[in-house]
Amino acid sequence: MGVIVNQDQIGNYLVFLFSPSVILNLIQGLEQKIISLDPVPEASVAADFRYGMTEECIITNMNYLEQLTHKESERQKNTLNLIASENYPSPKTLQLLGSVWNDKYAEGYPGKRYYAGNVFSDELEEFVGKKALEVFDSTGEYGVNVQVLSGSPANAMVYFTVLEPGDTVLSLNLASGGHLSHLHATSSYLKFFKYTNYSLMSKKHGLAIDEVDFKNKLKETKPRLVILGFSSYPRKYEFAKLCKLAHEAGALVLADISHIAGLVVTDLHDSPFKSNGEGADFVVTTTHKTLRGPRSALIFAKNEYMSALNKTIFPGTSGGPHLNQIAAVGQSLLEITGEDVYPDKIDFKQYMQNVLQNTSSLETGLIEVDQEVVAATQNHLCLVKLPEKCDSLDVQTLLEKVGIITNRNAVPNDDRSPWRPSGLRLGMAALTSRGILPEQARELGVAVGSLISGDTTEGAVAGFTKDMSSQLKWYF
Ligand SMILES: Cc1ncc(COP(=O)(O)O)c(C=O)c1O
Repeated sequence: MGVIVNQDQIGNYLVFLFSPSVILNLIQGLEQKIISLDPVPEASVAADFRYGMTEECIITNMNYLEQLTHKESERQKNTLNLIASENYPSPKTLQLLGSVWNDKYAEGYPGKRYYAGNVFSDELEEFVGKKALEVFDSTGEYGVNVQVLSGSPANAMVYFTVLEPGDTVLSLNLASGGHLSHLHATSSYLKFFKYTNYSLMSKKHGLAIDEVDFKNKLKETKPRLVILGFSSYPRKYEFAKLCKLAHEAGALVLADISHIAGLVVTDLHDSPFKSNGEGADFVVTTTHKTLRGPRSALIFAKNEYMSALNKTIFPGTSGGPHLNQIAAVGQSLLEITGEDVYPDKIDFKQYMQNVLQNTSSLETGLIEVDQEVVAATQNHLCLVKLPEKCDSLDVQTLLEKVGIITNRNAVPNDDRSPWRPSGLRLGMAALTSRGILPEQARELGVAVGSLISGDTTEGAVAGFTKDMSSQLKWYF
């Protein structure tokens, strides 16, 4: 038995008794980490775990997974995250993901479950569904299913609800900013369904859907389903016009608003929820991007399709819903309605306005040092067309080396391979949650752009990252 004396954050001495092997472990490598730990905030154990360890971990030594979690937490804290599809949910949201809701099976729907013990699960699922409709739909013409696990399976649920084998889906091509789950050459769905793609065209000061191409594809391929949705499109788009064209051609419409959901629910972007047949028939969104919730998804459908959609999900394709995800989605919806608050206490609409402002400032910084953006940003992301001589994978790796996390991305009509496309996608939702200010966002754009062009050194940008990340909030 050995003794370790340590001092806690308020200066009290703590005395721990350990077996010799534990002491050896602590000395061999872990001591450094323990010493360099941030103060554990006064919060729940689950929220503390976000720091990579709990008080108990410090005392009893970390297992491998706890060490890894701690390292990941430090990585996130010490880097600047520009991935447009990522964000930082509140500690309460994370806590609900790790709560006892994880333990319960609830196959079926509220009031009609296959196992006993679902009295509170029923309440939970009904509450979150109601909140989701309150946040998204002002028409009263839609229902929602909250059981789907993520964005790609959510899209699949819509396909299996409305398509017959051999039916065609019309979606935006991948190189123009479409998503893999919208049916493309590599989709497994091609075993059942056919696909065709529409594309984008350059416009003065921007980009737009190529309406001529869109109309021709509707006429020539007679799709059963048209998907309106993007992964890397920096502009706003109008749902009503495209829905009308699709409906006139006899197609149903799925709007995938996974990226822009936060803008849609705050009226900073046109909504696909519309009355009188002018809206989308189905709307899918992930909950972990601009919505700042847990990894999950919501599927909305016009009331007439809800029963078929629910059957596709259960018993058609899925087992027990993940109640912990549903509860965590509920928490993020409460933070959107203002019934609860994210730790920064900024209301959700103001947060989304800050995201827009910061993205625009980032872009200003990039342009200041002569980087080319594909089109002026109107949302939470900007898309950079890299200089011809640059390899996008090398650029992404170089930025990661100096602590700036990005993803390489295709630009419209890209002729390079998807592995080494011509562009870089940069989003500001995550750093805005950490409280970045517009002037800092502009400086970040200058730093990224100067590193790409070789006008500054790795050392200088690494120092910039260290400085800025230490100024930003972290859990929280
Ligand atoms: C538009 C769109 N739809 C669907 C998805 C897929 O979501 P998930 O990764 O949760 O399957 C994404 C992911 O980035 C997306 O951008």
